[in-house]
Amino acid sequence: HEVIYICVSLVFLYTMVVTHLMSVSIWVPQAEIDAAVKLLLKLKVDYKQMTGQDYKAGCPPSENSIAPDNGPAADGADEDTVDPWNVATTNAKGVDYDKLIVRFGSNKIDQELVDRIEKVAGQTPHRFLRRGIFFSHRDMHQVLDAYEKNKSFYLYTGRGPSSEAMHVGHLIPFIFTKWLQDVFDIPLVIQLTDDEKYLWKDLTLEDCHRFAVENAKDIIACGFDVNKTFIFSDLDYMGSSPEFYRNVVKIQKHVTYNQVKGIFGFTDSDCIGKISFPAIQAAPSFSNSFPQIFGSRKDIQCLIPCAIDQDPYFRMTRDVAPRIGYPKPALLHSTFFPALQGAQTKMSASDANSSIFLTDTPKQIKNKVNKHAFSGGKDTVEEHRKYGGNPDVDVSFMYLTFFLEDDEQLEKIKQDYASGALLTGELKKMLIETLQPMITQHQERRKQVTDETVKQFMTPRPLNFKL
Ligand SMILES: *[C@@H]1O[C@H](CO)[C@@H](O)[C@H](O)[C@H]1NC(C)=O
Ligand SMILES: *[C@@H]1O[C@H](CO)[C@@H](O)[C@H](O)[C@H]1NC(C)=O
Ligand SMILES: *[C@@H]1O[C@H](CO)[C@@H](O)[C@H](O)[C@H]1NC(C)=O
Repeated sequence: HEVIYICVSLVFLYTMVVTHLMSVSIWVPQAEIDAAVKLLLKLKVDYKQMTGQDYKAGCPPSENSIAPDNGPAADGADEDTVDPWNVATTNAKGVDYDKLIVRFGSNKIDQELVDRIEKVAGQTPHRFLRRGIFFSHRDMHQVLDAYEKNKSFYLYTGRGPSSEAMHVGHLIPFIFTKWLQDVFDIPLVIQLTDDEKYLWKDLTLEDCHRFAVENAKDIIACGFDVNKTFIFSDLDYMGSSPEFYRNVVKIQKHVTYNQVKGIFGFTDSDCIGKISFPAIQAAPSFSNSFPQIFGSRKDIQCLIPCAIDQDPYFRMTRDVAPRIGYPKPALLHSTFFPALQGAQTKMSASDANSSIFLTDTPKQIKNKVNKHAFSGGKDTVEEHRKYGGNPDVDVSFMYLTFFLEDDEQLEKIKQDYASGALLTGELKKMLIETLQPMITQHQERRKQVTDETVKQFMTPRPLNFKL
């Protein structure tokens, strides 16, 4: 809307200034002209910031121009920061996701869409859908329309392997993607961006690649079907697939430096690897990047489940797609997984106390939850019984919304905690008893994943499916 407003203002101001310069006989005071010129220049700068392009008189942005992140509101010193590298909010309840939908220009996953997914998939929707953990989408209705007409699609998700240690939050997109793969019976590609981690972090190429392979084991342990899943490291696949690289180059040709600067905030001192990387994350959205799976077909729709902070990459991808003759990928966005210390603090792989790691022992899980999980309870038992706790800021309760399957039980916990009937210690105990078996089972499945299994998943090969 703001872009349109700026365009209208620009057209008006241009007309006013030009008619003045041409001395057409309308009388406008000089002061007003000066003010108009000043405003004109400012609007042109705003326009360029928002669209990544210079304003050309009488040339509003095409419908296809990249929907910008409209950025912090003019009044909002306390606006949330959300981009692929930073997530920050001052609100104990976490990021304001409704505002984010407006800012990113995506659509809310409402009850109607959840019901529709249930109908088309013929399964109870995953708890992440029932509880708004996947809360936003792009073009999901279109994917379902096509699926109902027997036109299938494929899934694409990924991970940036910055260390060996993965925490439970990292599993969210994979748990959900596995569910989608099972209910829709479709192929999946998983990109490990070891190249990105090398470019952004102070790590060696060897370490980044090693982390990719280690992380692949945790991903495989989520239960993906080897006959329907291809996992790849960018460092390996880029060099082995001419088709993939051709798509990278096509994307690179159709995105300007101004555009990526506008979307990702790159500066002149960022290395050129970073500037061209978004094309590499975009390429798996196009089916002909994987000829071993899809042959030369370039028309197979892609659906990307990911955390909302990855959306800038795919806004760019969706802008480029029609210009290089490919369908736009659809998206499902998840909320962020909060740190143990609270939804406004950052989870960090280097701080073992900030989350539950997939390598934690049952004892470590118990200690971490008891000592570090931010509580929405009152200071004393008496006060808590009298006034009740606040589940909206309580991290143990938030974690249970991610991992406790039973809706009724979860609702009862919420009410009991809010009323004061349930104490913080009791709530934490429920979380501990939910996490301990979940992590232990994950560790057992991971132990079954041999180097041979990893190699199978990571070898380019045909997959089993019918489209
Ligand atoms: C989709 O496929 C099923 C089973 O093969 C068939 O019964 C149905 O008519 C097809 N629907 C459309 C819209 O083609
Ligand atoms: C994968 O396909 C092979 C060969 O068709 C089959 O033997 C194997 O059981 C399949 N694995 C799974 C997990 O379905
Ligand atoms: C984590 O918490 C424990 C106490 O629970 C403490 O001993 C340890 O130093 C903490 N680690 C870090 C990295 O803060």
